[in-house]
Amino acid sequence: MNHSKISGTGSYVPEMIVTNEDFTKYIETSDEWISSRTGIKERRYAGDVSTLDMAYHASLEAIASAGIDQSLIDLVIVATVSADNVFPGVSQMLQAKLGLDPVMAFDINAACSGFIYAMNIADKMIQSGAYKHALVVGAEALTRWTDFSDRNTCVLFGDAAGAMIISKSDEAGLIDVISKAQGDVDDLLICKNPSPKTLVNHQAEIQDFIQMDGRNVFKFATKVLVATVNELLERNNITLDDIDYIVCHQANERIIDKASRDLDFPMDKMYLNISRYGNTSAASVPLAIDEAIKENIIKVGDTFMTIAFGGGLTWAGALVKY
Ligand SMILES: CC(C)(COP(=O)(O)OP(=O)(O)OC[C@H]1O[C@@H](n2cnc3c(N)ncnc32)[C@H](O)[C@@H]1OP(=O)(O)O)[C@@H](O)C(=O)NCCC(=O)NCCS
Repeated sequence: MNHSKISGTGSYVPEMIVTNEDFTKYIETSDEWISSRTGIKERRYAGDVSTLDMAYHASLEAIASAGIDQSLIDLVIVATVSADNVFPGVSQMLQAKLGLDPVMAFDINAACSGFIYAMNIADKMIQSGAYKHALVVGAEALTRWTDFSDRNTCVLFGDAAGAMIISKSDEAGLIDVISKAQGDVDDLLICKNPSPKTLVNHQAEIQDFIQMDGRNVFKFATKVLVATVNELLERNNITLDDIDYIVCHQANERIIDKASRDLDFPMDKMYLNISRYGNTSAASVPLAIDEAIKENIIKVGDTFMTIAFGGGLTWAGALVKY
């Protein structure tokens, strides 16, 4: 049977740093409120840097870390809800910008779960035997879809990209991947695209931007995070003692802390970089995995889980041997 494994990782964060203190200039908030409720101290803004450019820089790092010739890449998947265009997709522009052969390249939208959805797709396409080296990217400039008059949401998000090369392997690196969705009929977390009406006006309206019922999203997130860890344990007949690390989507440190207590899994084995980047949506998981590897927290031979949840509503998890 064909398996897949992570053969390289990379990431990119834009240079512009926005601190909690910066928000106090135009909304009623404080560093104390934001950091105690979310764990966020600062985040990065793309500004003029495109989603494509963030994806490109993260991909270059991932290709170098995999140590493969980029001509071997035969599949490109970009998870994003903040593509530069409706079309062409970030993935197709990335194929051209990297100078890859004309391979299959497509974007997927599963909000903050998008990267693990893309890992799942790459894993299954490699298992089919048709593909050998997938470039999988999460790239987001969600601050372009943020209502900066809404203090409930504007302090949470940041921009970034993370990338991974997932390659064919004799042994299972991606041991198991779960991806799920349950349509958000109550609009707990929604971002409407500008309608043709607003495009005619050349102006998006407030309801086109990110809107969130924070408390209910918090409850949803903690519930599916714990349920997905338990489902991966059960499906693979293992216990948390077999897991060296859990890398969660970085949406709120309190969500991760609650999951750590509910699972009785130590917080110092739950990777955290939210203080520096905030919630970077589909970029969050690959950025966190890449940093954990660079910091030698995740080492070759370690078994870790990565779990995400977000708009859709979607959630996903992967059990990985690195
Ligand atoms: C958004 C979130 C941090 C709010 O924290 P909370 O403890 O639930 O706070 P509440 O929503 O109960 O709001 C408490 C008060 O703080 C206020 N508040 C909200 N944002 C604020 C801010 N940035 N600064 C100061 N006060 C703020 C609210 O207006 C509310 O005031 P009120 O009581 O006068 O109405 C939290 O609900 C959360 O993180 N939810 C999950 C969000 C998430 O992860 N989304 C992405 C998923 S991918």
